[in-house]
Amino acid sequence: MSQLRVGLAGLGTVGVAVVQMLERRAAEIEARTGRSVKVVAVSARSKGKDRGIDLSGVRWHDDPVALARDPEIDVFVELMGGEGDPAKAAVAAALAAGRPVVTANKALLARAGLELAEVGEASGATLHFEAAVAGGIPIVKTLREALGGNRIERVSGILNGTCNYILTRMADEKMAFDTCLAEAQRLGYAEADPSFDIDGYDTAHKLSLLTSLAFGSKVDADAIYVEGIRSLTLADLEAADELGFKVKLLGVAVRTEEGIEQRVHPTMVPKHWPIAQVSGVTNAVAVDGDAVNLTLVGPGAGGAATASAVVGDLIDVARGNGGFAFGLPVAALQSSPRAPMQRHEGGYYIRVAAVNKPGTAATIARRMAEEGISLESIVQRRPPRPHGASASGPDDVGVILITYATTEDAVRRAMAAIEADGVIVGEPQVIRIEKD
Ligand SMILES: NC(=O)c1ccc[n+]([C@@H]2O[C@H](COP(=O)([O-])OP(=O)(O)OC[C@H]3O[C@@H](n4cnc5c(N)ncnc54)[C@H](OP(=O)(O)O)[C@@H]3O)[C@@H](O)[C@H]2O)c1
Repeated sequence: MSQLRVGLAGLGTVGVAVVQMLERRAAEIEARTGRSVKVVAVSARSKGKDRGIDLSGVRWHDDPVALARDPEIDVFVELMGGEGDPAKAAVAAALAAGRPVVTANKALLARAGLELAEVGEASGATLHFEAAVAGGIPIVKTLREALGGNRIERVSGILNGTCNYILTRMADEKMAFDTCLAEAQRLGYAEADPSFDIDGYDTAHKLSLLTSLAFGSKVDADAIYVEGIRSLTLADLEAADELGFKVKLLGVAVRTEEGIEQRVHPTMVPKHWPIAQVSGVTNAVAVDGDAVNLTLVGPGAGGAATASAVVGDLIDVARGNGGFAFGLPVAALQSSPRAPMQRHEGGYYIRVAAVNKPGTAATIARRMAEEGISLESIVQRRPPRPHGASASGPDDVGVILITYATTEDAVRRAMAAIEADGVIVGEPQVIRIEKD
């Protein structure tokens, strides 16, 4: 029986879980692939660290790039993270040497995925990254292979467990954003510096990969409109609940007449949508194809879940299952025009602190009408006030406007005019609504 010799760089949360899963499932993996899949060489930063796994008989490389070039490995697994070196240099070195690569590194792929895929195409080495998007959910293979016959119109998802955890606790337990973030940090769901997650960039990296797989387009993380969840208040989540919505940080990519619209922002989704019912650190991805619509729900992070995706990729490598990293040769991926966010069409939730004086309501209504925005409802509330409005006087009134479908441009112009009229205090809160 032949062996698949694995070189593994990165022995942290995911790396250790991969070693453990390969050991625990060795007999079954061998039965499935006809090969024994074995870690023979590793690299990490600190050689002496106790990682709770037995690495006796496994070669150590201080330099992950040297590991990637080790002629005694058949596949290189990159689980160090980071969009630059050494992850990038090591993955490039392995691919250039004709060695398949498995990685969970969305940051690297969002920035350099195409360049690396091209290196692999030139040498005949395959690049696998199931674990890079939504952890344990097999969405990469689903889009690249299983749904290959569909014309996909839209792909969207809850792609960051930290944000979903915070939003779920805010809504369910009526807790403030800062309290929920502190809880997430205490439980290890959020980093000490949580900005990458809560400001939406992690979601954007994953969305850029999904977009390429779904639409056959070039990965373009810079084309994504990104807004995080920092400004959301409990008042917004409570209002959403009363209106029949949940608020989720969604990554959305949609085919439009002008190109592909890619955006990451807090979104109100109807409570009955499957994605609205996804709570805590769980992830979900919804795909709308011309033949199949589906939603996959599952664990988006954690050692075991992410290792499940990495080991699945290793099983593909052991079987010789290849294919192009993004479903097509890089040269065949389209440079689709990016649909500008200003043209985004949809419903809007707008919460303002309106100055309590005669004519205010009429001014707001007039500015909306001037932009052709039709209002589905207007609800007046006493405090709490919108984000940034704490310095206002006691005489402002919380007003929530729900619009019918309109454009981003129209909303921005109307809000700018309303602000200039001096009838609102502080920053308006604007949340986009997705509906059936
Ligand atoms: N954790 C998750 O739930 C999850 C989910 C999906 C995807 N991912 C992705 O999986 C990858 C790994 O994540 P993780 O959570 O396992 O990270 P982690 O726990 O921080 O582990 C990183 C590992 O890489 C090693 N490393 C870091 N820099 C290195 C360098 N310059 N040279 C050699 N080794 C280096 C570290 O060595 P030392 O141990 O010696 O410090 C550590 O073993 C990342 O790309 C991440 O985005 C993670």
